[in-house]
Amino acid sequence: MTEKTVHNAVMVEETMLVLDVKSGGHYLDGTLGGGTHTEELLKRSKPDGHVISLDVDRSALARATERFATYGDRWKGVEANFRHLASVAEQENLALLDGILLDVGLSSDELENSSLGISFQKDGPLDMRLGPKSNDDGLTAAEVINSWTQQDLETVIRTFGEERYARRIAAQIVKARKSARIIRTLELVSVIRSVVPHTYEGGRIHFATRTFQALRIVVNDELQALKDAIRGAQTVLKPGGHLAILTFHSLEDRIVKLAFTGTEAWEPITKKPMMASEEETKENPRSRTAKLRAAIKK
Ligand SMILES: C[S@@+](CC[C@H](N)C(=O)[O-])C[C@H]1O[C@@H](n2cnc3c(N)ncnc32)[C@H](O)[C@@H]1O
Repeated sequence: MTEKTVHNAVMVEETMLVLDVKSGGHYLDGTLGGGTHTEELLKRSKPDGHVISLDVDRSALARATERFATYGDRWKGVEANFRHLASVAEQENLALLDGILLDVGLSSDELENSSLGISFQKDGPLDMRLGPKSNDDGLTAAEVINSWTQQDLETVIRTFGEERYARRIAAQIVKARKSARIIRTLELVSVIRSVVPHTYEGGRIHFATRTFQALRIVVNDELQALKDAIRGAQTVLKPGGHLAILTFHSLEDRIVKLAFTGTEAWEPITKKPMMASEEETKENPRSRTAKLRAAIKK
């Protein structure tokens, strides 16, 4: 038996509504994670709808394979990066699709898994790849931290972490790595701690949040993967098919907003992003930063 998921899926009802899930439809969930969204797609497309779920995290796929066995050939899990969703849908003979969902970022299962090196609260190797298919070049966070120039580190931490102390943090990383390579998450946390104010952002977020976010984005090439996925969705959705994307920080939301409004290909379903209800944010704090945008392929 694989371990149960601890991930609490976000805005499930809202995503199903904007996807307009129909009996017998063909759906692709690009981010399987704990499987709640996938299961809803299966339930709402019964009795003969098909759902294919992608993830780069092998443990998410193993968990779902057990959980969804009862759905037989209505469900398939594929270890793939969602940036290649168009070719996966074609290989699996599921195109053209009625709907595609992306719930980007991390699952709580991954945050709990210290061996991925994603959490700044758990000691682990500074890796940060979510799985072997997370990137094509094998880049790890340790490689970035120990071999990139101070200028490059500063740019990455500022651009992808929107971190105001990027310069100090980058300088301190370069200083610290002269005595020994920084290879563990908590080693990096203490380097950051030594140069940021004690009252970091009024205590609203942990002082390592932004630097860790920046490294994760770079290692997994997250922003480009999202752009590739939206472009791919355009080719494998039916005209009238729906694309729903849940994002958790402004860099990602900006990409989705621009993609949906900047071309003739999409008709946005809502002008503004949908947010989680007050009730949900109380129960699941992770949902506080979630933004849901959806569009119809013209
Ligand atoms: C927020 S969770 C999804 C949760 C899911 N919707 C649910 O109902 O539990 C995000 C998942 O996307 C996966 N992921 C992140 N980037 C990916 C990528 N480029 N390709 C495929 N999966 C990715 C992560 O491994 C993680 O399992």
